[in-house]
Amino acid sequence: MHDKQKNILLGVTGSIAAYKAVDIARRLMDEGASVRVVMTHAACKFITPLTFEAVTGSPVLIDLFSGPFSHINLSKEADLLLIAPATANTINKLRCGIADDLLGNLCLTHEGRTVIAPAMNHRMYRHPTVQDSIKELKKSGVQFIGPSTGSLACGEEGEGRMADVSAIVEAAVTALTPKDLSRHNILVTAGPTIEPIDPVRYISNRSSGKMGFAVARAAARRGATVTLISGPVSLPQLENVTFIPVKRASEMEAAVLKRLPKATAVIMAAAVADFAPAAGSSSKLGKDDISTIALRKTPDILKKVGSKKGKRILIGFAAETGRDVESAKNKLKQKNLDIIVLNDVTQKGAGFDVDTNVVTIIDGKGKIAEYPLLKKIEVANIILDRMLELATKAQRHKGR
Ligand code: PMT
Repeated sequence: MHDKQKNILLGVTGSIAAYKAVDIARRLMDEGASVRVVMTHAACKFITPLTFEAVTGSPVLIDLFSGPFSHINLSKEADLLLIAPATANTINKLRCGIADDLLGNLCLTHEGRTVIAPAMNHRMYRHPTVQDSIKELKKSGVQFIGPSTGSLACGEEGEGRMADVSAIVEAAVTALTPKDLSRHNILVTAGPTIEPIDPVRYISNRSSGKMGFAVARAAARRGATVTLISGPVSLPQLENVTFIPVKRASEMEAAVLKRLPKATAVIMAAAVADFAPAAGSSSKLGKDDISTIALRKTPDILKKVGSKKGKRILIGFAAETGRDVESAKNKLKQKNLDIIVLNDVTQKGAGFDVDTNVVTIIDGKGKIAEYPLLKKIEVANIILDRMLELATKAQRHKGR
């Protein structure tokens, strides 16, 4: 979570999808949230409370009479009430304010955000009563995620499958994240580019895309309009992010320049291949046909963006083999950047493929800030904080 630790009350109701709530609890905790689980009696028929207790390290709450005022105190502490899976019965009861169990009571006393992930048979989901309940709950500010369409536990096909665990976790975290970037339109690049030698082989750079995806994810959570332009990676698609897949540096350049006019900030984490074969072959070259490959330079996308920067905030990365501050400073100057994020890719836990990074952030005034080993999502939020700081300063300056 970006600012402070958040308390999430996870309501689990009687659906075959209840087992997936274990993964939801675990992943919310990975995101830094504190999770308490409340189960209905029906949910306990599908999965035991012990499983949730093992994952969260806290007792699961089931009984309305388990402690004095637990129905009030628990919801007072909760920043978010997430019900996943939510059955038709629970959704209808919630709409009417029926409080005949602990979860129903907590729903009535909870004053924070509520996110519901329905899971049921498709005919139940389509039933006018359920649809009415969803409509009314949405009107009162409750957010729904899913359901999706697909094969259901009963063997039928239709709309009623609980949304993907990743989508539910993202919706919960997004609901808890302050929208301080809602005025920004951020262009992010990620991943490698690949430059073909022939239809089978290519030259590339190392990059899993994790750093750039983390920047895009964090910006979307904070309310920015985000476009992510990425070379080939094997990461899942992000929620609330426009995704533009590209392969070559020239394609990435065209995609970036096309979207530049609308962008208020550009953050380039892509590892663009610096060289491409001077002449690619349209058919597979035989082993004996290649002894050397003549190379040409690819376009320097960031430098080009720097020359058209205008009032945008422009942030680049410098992947170095050593903490080479001078080289990073030179890149910042040559490419007309506001900030450069230096990562020494030889350091343990930093750079390619891993979920963490160790960065030094250098700004145009020569201010240098060093950070310890952090998750890439934390690094992303620090970069976005710095971007927002610069944008706010520029805005204030304009207003004078
Ligand atoms: O993707 P991961 O596995 O998570 O790894 C993350 C990362 C190490 C790739 C990332 O943190 C990173 O450092 N990205 C920049 C890699 C790089 O190409 O660095 P560079 O120092 O060669 O380039 C400097 C800047 O110019 C970069 O912002 C780069 O996107 C940009 N560039 C470089 C060459 C080029 N032809 N065009 C460019 O726009």
